[in-house]
Amino acid sequence: MAQLALDGEGSLQRQLYRSLRAAILDGEPGPGRRLPATRVLAGDVGVSRNTVLQAYDQLLAEGYLTARGGSGTYVADTLPDERVAVGQLAGGGRGRDSAAPPRAPRLSLAAQRMLDVVPRGMSWNLRTVPLPYDFRYGAPAFGDLPLETWWRIMGRRARHLSARRLSYSKPGGAPELREALAAYLRRARGVVCSPEQVIVVHGTQQAIDLTIRMLVDPGDRVIVEDPHYPGIAFNAAAAGAELVGVPVDDDGLCVDRLDAAAPARLVCVTPSHQFPTGGVLPLARRLELLRFAEREDALILEDDYDSEFRFDGRPIESLQGLDQNGRVLYAGTASKLLFPSLRLGWLVVPAPLRRPFLHAQALADTGSATLEQLALADFIEDGHLERHVRRSRTRNGARRAALLEALATHFGERAIVSGTDAGLHVMLWLPELAAAHVPALCDEARARGVGVYEVTGFYRQPPKEAALLLGYATLIEKAIGDGVARLAEAYAAVAAR
Ligand SMILES: Cc1ncc(COP(=O)(O)O)c(C=O)c1O
Repeated sequence: MAQLALDGEGSLQRQLYRSLRAAILDGEPGPGRRLPATRVLAGDVGVSRNTVLQAYDQLLAEGYLTARGGSGTYVADTLPDERVAVGQLAGGGRGRDSAAPPRAPRLSLAAQRMLDVVPRGMSWNLRTVPLPYDFRYGAPAFGDLPLETWWRIMGRRARHLSARRLSYSKPGGAPELREALAAYLRRARGVVCSPEQVIVVHGTQQAIDLTIRMLVDPGDRVIVEDPHYPGIAFNAAAAGAELVGVPVDDDGLCVDRLDAAAPARLVCVTPSHQFPTGGVLPLARRLELLRFAEREDALILEDDYDSEFRFDGRPIESLQGLDQNGRVLYAGTASKLLFPSLRLGWLVVPAPLRRPFLHAQALADTGSATLEQLALADFIEDGHLERHVRRSRTRNGARRAALLEALATHFGERAIVSGTDAGLHVMLWLPELAAAHVPALCDEARARGVGVYEVTGFYRQPPKEAALLLGYATLIEKAIGDGVARLAEAYAAVAAR
């Protein structure tokens, strides 16, 4: 038997096991050949006999070896199928754990573009150690959810699910949910559509992905708000689009700056609660945006991610509801209304785009899980969703009031708060602090158990003033007050440097 090499990773027993397995997959020793006695191999390799015994036991258990009572240990006549396949796929019959690291397969151009646009070191994971005062944005108030009702409806649907519903569902989503959504969106958001125009997706992110995949070619110009939700910009840049940022002010997108960004294929906007600054696009700007799209032959992706939570002023209907010319694709999500892990959202497309988008969805994943879709349909039809939104709006309104009061008490004139009319987060501007000190402020806050978030990653042109993003839905009022007091301490520590 050839000399065995250990790779130095993990326990000696695992190293020897990997080395032996690779040798067997290489055919040396071949099927039916006898392995050295454990004491002999231990001496050859320089490990204890017990280590060899454990490695042999593992290989015996996996079917690489057989023990012939009294006469020793042999390589099995036939190797376990899937292990051989792994060895062959890894090339030259060598096992996956052999010393040479596997070569990275060549990626497509689209994949390479995607890796180029997502910043190095970017993590998609949320913080695993929770902070006691975490002003995380993007999360709804889990404690406010009517979960008993949700599980009851899920249980009822699950018990009565017919065999037919266990099969593939139609692309586009369960008809019950599309109907419930079309009616709900008309009532709550002024969206004008037939159920056939509603495509059930796995949240806004998939709506963004489908839209860009179906409408944008490499080199096409895509207008994004500056600042914007990064999930849109990454996706468009990965598709090879030329991204152009148009600034926002307190009223959202500066539509008078659109002409300078023309020509455009797609304009991505958050008109009901600009992400992240919070402005609500006034009617006159909405109409101007629609005229721009018509003039430029462009389409608009309306990301309506959290507008149900509107506190001040009259609710403004969706941009889609004003669109007379089939220019707007409307995306909404259950992530803020209910909870993100539900992974249900909806994309309302102009009628001529319905078929192409259904094909795209069928090719992508054939749609969302039926049971959850049916439960959401019942949840909407039975009035639970709107009841929940009403209650949550009241509770979130109280949290928002606690936040504004605490900021006024602890920061006074040193802070300006924007984006308070709607949604579940606010922007906190700190005009007396240098923008370069924001990371230090976040660190100081974290050391005091407070999570606050930088905004520079949302900008194409980073702001000159210091700013933070504060979500408040997941905290109770007392924690909001205490957290802001601690944030003010952190601010004082950084400002004194
Ligand atoms: C502005 C905005 N758009 C889209 C999304 C994506 O939401 P989801 O894919 O969970 O529906 C988020 C998530 O926080 C968001 O903040």
